[in-house]
Amino acid sequence: MDVAALRQSWAQFCVAGPEAAKYFYATLFVIAPEARTMFPTNMQYQQDKLLSALGHIITHVDDERELTAFAQRLGADHRRFRGEDRQGRPVPLAEWHYIWVGQALLATLERFLGPRWTPALRAEWAAAYELVARLMLTGAAEAERTSPPYWEAEVQWVQRRRADVCVFTVRPNYLCDYLPGQSLPVQVPQLRMWRYLSPANAPRADGTIEFHVRAAGRFSTHLVRKLREGDQLLLGLPVGDALSSYDRSQLPLLLVAGGTGLAPLRAVAEAVQQGSGRATTLVVGGKTPDDLYDDQALRELAATPPAGSWRSGAGGGWLRYVPTVESGWQWQGEVGTAGQTAVRLGPWRDTDVLVCGSPEMTRETITALTVSGVPPERILVESYDQSLYPPLASAAAAAPRDFSWTGVR
Ligand code: HEM
Repeated sequence: MDVAALRQSWAQFCVAGPEAAKYFYATLFVIAPEARTMFPTNMQYQQDKLLSALGHIITHVDDERELTAFAQRLGADHRRFRGEDRQGRPVPLAEWHYIWVGQALLATLERFLGPRWTPALRAEWAAAYELVARLMLTGAAEAERTSPPYWEAEVQWVQRRRADVCVFTVRPNYLCDYLPGQSLPVQVPQLRMWRYLSPANAPRADGTIEFHVRAAGRFSTHLVRKLREGDQLLLGLPVGDALSSYDRSQLPLLLVAGGTGLAPLRAVAEAVQQGSGRATTLVVGGKTPDDLYDDQALRELAATPPAGSWRSGAGGGWLRYVPTVESGWQWQGEVGTAGQTAVRLGPWRDTDVLVCGSPEMTRETITALTVSGVPPERILVESYDQSLYPPLASAAAAAPRDFSWTGVR
């Protein structure tokens, strides 16, 4: 495979930006009108995801291990997207779906590369696409042996903690095996859109999962305003490998949360409580005390001794929970943003740090911590920007504009 030619043409193609993605989908829906209903009505976010995933594939096409892992994972995850047969019954993605997408891709490259699109380059692209499509189909077939295409999850209870924040629990029809700190694609069937939400609890024996959502767009506002006990949601394969590698060492842990970015960090704290009871500090920031919507659960967690304490002799006190607000009438606790308070509680030189919050909060916290002497490689963050396919998020973590934990739309 002529990787240099593929990369060079990809770079030239990228100059077209969103126009190319629009053309790709317009072509796909002309080739296969029946594919239109598989995609959301508003294609704005999907367009960015397709481009970034394709870019990743092309730049790794000579790295067999990386390409195989990425494409097989993407194929396994694509099992949650269903096509339809002639009678309108749902069918899993098959080879013919990939042929449509491949034809639309080649037509789009031809359109935007103009005279640079030679028969030799066409053959390179066709071969690279076929390789990826085969890997995706193999990944899907292999995943079929270990996990369902998606989980159907019934809403067990819903609590509105504030006008714009709800906490709810679901019970999936099969055990959904995720790691603390990971996220799951979630669909409200009547909205036909998938968004990523992070479990707020360590995996439980009964399989129930708690989610925290702040109303910020159509999807999250629907959950906050309309979700009821007994509603059905769909869950896809768990993703994310940054926050979930919290156990890469046994150094003390500092968890810094803003808004509903608390969810994955609470899951991590619960897992620590159930495991070694490693010394952990959890700083949760809000503008006012009203923003601390999960205060009671966190106080209870801090008062629970680690499960392993009978062995290690360590008692309570493994978790130091520090709520902090920027202003609050008669507030007795810490004052300042989560980042400022975390720095004040330092130094954190030999500590693993996990940060999760809005883009601004994440940026501010990382800057404050690194200026105070925390080595950047000790800080773990994850991006679930809706315009980015999450397994690509680690690469984007260096670009803080992509963080949008509190902005599930
Ligand atoms: C090389 C081939 C392909 C690549 C690189 C690719 C890439 C992607 C990516 C990265 C996403 C976003 C996933 C997420 O954020 O959770 C996505 C979503 C999706 N893909 Fe693909 N895909 C490919 C083939 C296909 C095919 C053959 C079909 C079926 C015709 C398909 C249908 C969909 C659908 C329906 C979505 C969800 C859209 C939404 O609800 O936002 N994809 N794809």
